[in-house]
Amino acid sequence: MTPAARAAAAIDILDRILGGDPAEAALLRWSRDSRFAGSGDRAAVRDLVFDSLRRLRSRAALGGAMTGRGLLLGLCRDEGTDPAALFSGQGHAPAPLSAAELTAGRQPDGAEALDLPDWLLPVWQDALGKDAAPIALAMRDRAPVWLRVNTLRATPAKAQEALAKDGIETQPASDLPTALRVTEGARRVANSRAYHDGLVELQDLSPQLACAALPEARTVLDYCAGGGGKALALAAKGAQVTAHDIDARRMSDLPARAKRAGAAIRLAQPGQVQGLFDLVVADVPCSGSGTWRRTPDAKWRFDDAALQHLLTVQAQILDRVAAHVAPGGHLAYMTCSLLEGENQRQADAFVQRAGFDPVAMRRFTPLDASDGFFLALMRRR
Ligand SMILES: C[S@@+](CC[C@H](N)C(=O)[O-])C[C@H]1O[C@@H](n2cnc3c(N)ncnc32)[C@H](O)[C@@H]1O
Repeated sequence: MTPAARAAAAIDILDRILGGDPAEAALLRWSRDSRFAGSGDRAAVRDLVFDSLRRLRSRAALGGAMTGRGLLLGLCRDEGTDPAALFSGQGHAPAPLSAAELTAGRQPDGAEALDLPDWLLPVWQDALGKDAAPIALAMRDRAPVWLRVNTLRATPAKAQEALAKDGIETQPASDLPTALRVTEGARRVANSRAYHDGLVELQDLSPQLACAALPEARTVLDYCAGGGGKALALAAKGAQVTAHDIDARRMSDLPARAKRAGAAIRLAQPGQVQGLFDLVVADVPCSGSGTWRRTPDAKWRFDDAALQHLLTVQAQILDRVAAHVAPGGHLAYMTCSLLEGENQRQADAFVQRAGFDPVAMRRFTPLDASDGFFLALMRRR
């Protein structure tokens, strides 16, 4: 496909997403209908779509319309490239720009220029203060790919060597040598030998730093285990891990992942957790606002009603898991959110009502550690 044909495909997919289709579903549908597209084309179209979604409001302002064409025109204006080269009408290229399209468009301002919804801007500023604008701008770029070296199977050096054999180059994090940033070959990771042999797992840097900061524990309950990223990281530290989720299907891949990683993880049925644990991890459902670079359409679907609902669910989960923390044991509350209500305010309110002492609170942002993430470590009296 030519660059212009890829742009035409992105325009169609974006129009579907703007019409209400989830981004992944719209991309999958295009992929199925486009057998002629090679892997390079698919990757390029996906990048165009996700890049447009990350910068949806600013690109629509620049391009003069909240449509697939407006977004791609906004991309040309943003990057200073000639729109006529893309909108040529030749072959599979988008139709030439109309007189109205040529004159439409303006510079974005306010929340639009930060690519945030209007309602969210004060909430974002309340949480992030002077860093609100730099963090919002950082969220408009593609997130890096990070791997966690599974120390049950390999040292960082051995994992790097194995990855390099498949053309994947990596760089360890300065403050955590078991976290490797992929500098080349990110798309090859899922098919690489090192990944299939359990030497590495895909995991962002910020949850890796959060898990590394947790105290040593013999027994761990991962109460909101989902796919099991934290459970696997904690099992690699030598803990006996029990994984639980309200939706058991979310953990369906966990036995295979644990086997690949050489880790033993016990699964608890929903609502059937028994006993006390040295450490309980509550990686609660949240806005995901720290990871909107990876799921940019979620940023535009999220609203205040959803936030209020999440705040209630998070408080309920905290109250429920508190009973499973052994006296003197720890509770690690985690979110992949940047919003204060889900983070510090939620943890502070819990500490006040539940007989726990705060031990450490840490917020990670894309300015220091890839995705936005929050950890509150608390100790039961
Ligand atoms: C942020 S995700 C967890 C991600 C996971 N820990 C990981 O590292 O891959 C939140 C999880 O909480 C689960 N969840 C939602 N409400 C819950 C509840 N009341 N009790 C337990 N789990 C819940 C969801 O099904 C979801 O899998």
